[in-house]
Amino acid sequence: MTLVERERELAAIHDMIGAVAAGHGRTVLVEGPPGIGKTAVLATAGEQARGRGLRVLTSVGGELEQDLPFTIVRQLFEPPLRTEDRAELLAGAAGLAEPVFGRSDPSQGDVVYGLYWLCANLSASAPLLLVVDDLHWADGPSLRFLSHLSRRIADLPVLLLLAGRPGPVLDGLVGAALGGTAPHVIRLRQLSDEAVGVLVRRDLSAEAEDEFCQACAVATGGNPFLLAEAVTNLRENGTRPIAAEAHRVRSCGPTPFPGPCWPESPEAARMPSGSRGRWRCWRRPPSRATSPPWPDCRWRRRPPPRTDSRGSPSSPRDTP
Ligand SMILES: Nc1ncnc2c1ncn2[C@@H]1O[C@H](COP(=O)(O)OP(=O)(O)OP(=O)(O)O)[C@@H](O)[C@H]1O
Ligand SMILES: [Mg+2]
Repeated sequence: MTLVERERELAAIHDMIGAVAAGHGRTVLVEGPPGIGKTAVLATAGEQARGRGLRVLTSVGGELEQDLPFTIVRQLFEPPLRTEDRAELLAGAAGLAEPVFGRSDPSQGDVVYGLYWLCANLSASAPLLLVVDDLHWADGPSLRFLSHLSRRIADLPVLLLLAGRPGPVLDGLVGAALGGTAPHVIRLRQLSDEAVGVLVRRDLSAEAEDEFCQACAVATGGNPFLLAEAVTNLRENGTRPIAAEAHRVRSCGPTPFPGPCWPESPEAARMPSGSRGRWRCWRRPPSRATSPPWPDCRWRRRPPPRTDSRGSPSSPRDTP
């Protein structure tokens, strides 16, 4: 997939890949609100890295897996340990990491040290890209490893590419795990009106008129996820992409979040202002008292209107 308006960010990662290929390890953090394109940037960076001969290992934090020790570490390293010479990869000090991938209880200090040497062994044959998406949901023991690695990464041909949603959780994690390591931070911004126009003309209609595209930019605040949803909705509604129909963009799906607490959440505060309050979150925060951290936030289109048995609209539900 071709990403619009991410040339600068991808160029920065491209440079980092070059440095890593030359033997100088780096840590990069991609930050941005829900739907802004973090995962998409990581995927494109992974393709770039593969094209330049790096070995790419990936992982994603899971909201319900934060209490499972070494979830991220296992996602990263189990594939090569399964498919390659396990004894060779776990040779020397890397052997201390073996309990993470076996049945015994890992004693964390040594294991983290062993994991560092596992990275060293893995990167001996080709430079390594380690991707950790949704860092804000990473488990504690994996974070300890990431911290240990990023403090010593300069000596290894390893690029540690992290991504997460900004907010108190990520700030806390970065402060604790990466404190003092000065990762290169890439903040993804909302798409410009021009970029929204490019996507509307690419994904909805090449004939889309300026005023219509502008309405899409305003309605979605330049958030690529919201834009993709709006485009799908507009297509399903059969909306013609002309100036006279621009007013329909505003009613194509956004609906105010019904709960009283959501608009005050830190996540919502970081949504682009044009989209804030227009889309509902698929999960309402459980209570006002649950802060921080706020739970997952995924945005979705307004569901089709529900009708009662006589075909009249019934009241919308608060939660999906
Ligand atoms: N620059 C872009 N150009 C075109 N499409 C994009 C761009 N960035 C993201 N997208 C698309 O927008 C959607 C949302 O992007 P993505 O899933 O990467 O967001 P995210 O920041 O990872 O969100 P979350 O925090 O929920 O994980 C995806 O379908 C993606 O392909
Ligand atoms: Mg993502």
